[in-house]
Parts: sequence; structure tokens; C-alpha cells
Amino acid sequence: MEDMHVLVGGFMSVDGKIAPVNRKGREFSQYMQPIHEQMLHEIRAGVDAIIIGVNTVIADNPTLTVRKAEGKNPLRVIIDSQARTPLNSKILNQKTDNASTLIALAKDAPKNKVAALKNKNVDLIYASSSLASKRVDLAELLFALSKRGVKRVLVEGGGEVRWSFFEQNLVDELFVWVMPTIWGGRDAPTLVEGSGFLKAENAVNLEFKSINQVENMLILWFNINKKTRSPPTTPTTANSAQHF
Ligand SMILES: NC(=O)c1ccc[n+]([C@@H]2O[C@H](COP(=O)([O-])OP(=O)(O)OC[C@H]3O[C@@H](n4cnc5c(N)ncnc54)[C@H](OP(=O)(O)O)[C@@H]3O)[C@@H](O)[C@H]2O)c1
Repeated sequence: MEDMHVLVGGFMSVDGKIAPVNRKGREFSQYMQPIHEQMLHEIRAGVDAIIIGVNTVIADNPTLTVRKAEGKNPLRVIIDSQARTPLNSKILNQKTDNASTLIALAKDAPKNKVAALKNKNVDLIYASSSLASKRVDLAELLFALSKRGVKRVLVEGGGEVRWSFFEQNLVDELFVWVMPTIWGGRDAPTLVEGSGFLKAENAVNLEFKSINQVENMLILWFNINKKTRSPPTTPTTANSAQHF
């Protein structure tokens, strides 16, 4: 997708964890000072859509709006193959910020759950290549978003969703905020999860762009040259996302 800029971002402990072992990522927000919140919200205001995985909605119940900076609210996109987004989540219920929400589903999502989400007045699309496919197809999703005029997306997490974007060679830019702390926990989620690469030629090589210390946070930015990489899987042709 040539005309879509995909920015991936996240914050982690020095040992690479993005949440404690109980996966309650909000515990990490204590390291965020007002300046960091403002910076994050400025980044949000600079994109057309923010994408997160359904597990992040379940674990953190975020609002994903722009509150600490000037600017518009981007479209909030939840990747949720099986329509597991909790009906009481803030994203579905806090309408005050004038932010709209889109949920991307797989075609085999349970019909009763899809109907319940529909009642929440959110946009729903099927973004999977076939009835048999159990997961949202990211290329389909990006194609559907580009049809809505989206040109810049921010993938805020979590680790599984970041992995899928990297694995499928869809990422243009990455920022990582490193908090001066160690949390450990072999089952604690890390910045990028998934099944991992086995060969150097498949790994994602980053081009160093900048490094800054802002208060207690180390802020790293990287570019990704997609053309120099050979991903292990070929993304599907994106043309069949269906809107309700
Ligand atoms: N510090 C940070 O920057 C940060 C940011 C965000 C989240 N977090 C933390 O990260 C954790 C959640 O991350 P997570 O890795 O468990 O889950 P996640 O990435 O938030 O969501 C993963 C889920 O998305 C769904 N999905 C649908 N299509 C997918 C696709 N193509 N690729 C990948 N996922 C797809 C899958 O569920 P279905 O199969 O049911 O669709 C999958 O299990 C929480 O602990 C949260 O606190 C931290």
C-alpha cells in the first residue's frame, strides 16, 4: 500500500516489557509525565487512524482520544476477529470526545456478538480474505481505511498486533519509548510478540533516525526500509473488505 504511512509505537521497560505479567498495562502509565502524555497526544493528532488489538482494549480499556494536545481525534480502529470487544468498554461508550470507532472483524465472527456491537453504533467491517480465515487481514484493513481517506495510521499495540504489522512488512516508521525500569516476568508481554523470525534475512532492520531523553524517558525513532526486506509470508491482495 504505497500511499499509506504506517507508524508503530509503544513504550516499554528497559527489559522490553510493555505491561506487567498480569498484562495490566495501565500500571506502566505512572512513568508517563505530563510532557509525555502531551507528546503522545500530539502524535495521535497527526494521524488519521489509531489501530489497536482487541486484547489491549480488554486489558487497558483505553479511550485513544486526543486530550492533552491540540488537534482532532483520529478514527479508532480495533482489530477484533471474533467480536470480543467488551460492550462496556470506554471506546464504545464515551462519545463525548467526538471520536468515531471502527471494528475490523473476520468473516466468521459470531453473528450474535456482531449484532451486539452493531447496537453500539460503531462502524463494523469484515476484513478477512475468506470465510475460513480466522483473523483480520491487515492488508485488507489498510485497503479499507485508505478508501475512507486514511493516509497515516498509528499502531499503538499490543505486541501481537505489532508483530503482524512487522511480519507482513507493512511498517514505515517506529518509535519506542524506554522507561528506566526493569519489570521481568517471562510471560509479561513485550514490544513485539508473535511467533518470531528464525532467519536474519527475515528480521526487520531499522534505520536509526533520532534519540532523545525527555525527562525520565528515552525516545527512539526509526525508519524501516520495506524494500530491502524479504518477509517470510506474502501479504494477501487487498480488495475484499466489506462494509456493513
Ligand atoms: N506499553 C505499550 O506500549 C502498550 C500498548 C498497547 C498494549 N499494551 C499491553 O499489551 C498487552 C496486549 O497485547 P497483546 O499482544 O496481548 O494483544 P493485542 O496485540 O492488543 O491484540 C491481539 C489480538 O488481536 C486480534 N487480532 C486480529 N487479527 C490480528 C492480526 N492480524 N494480528 C494480530 N492480532 C490480531 C487477535 O484476537 P482475535 O483472534 O480474537 O481477533 C489477537 O489475539 C496488554 O498487556 C496491554 O496492557 C502495552
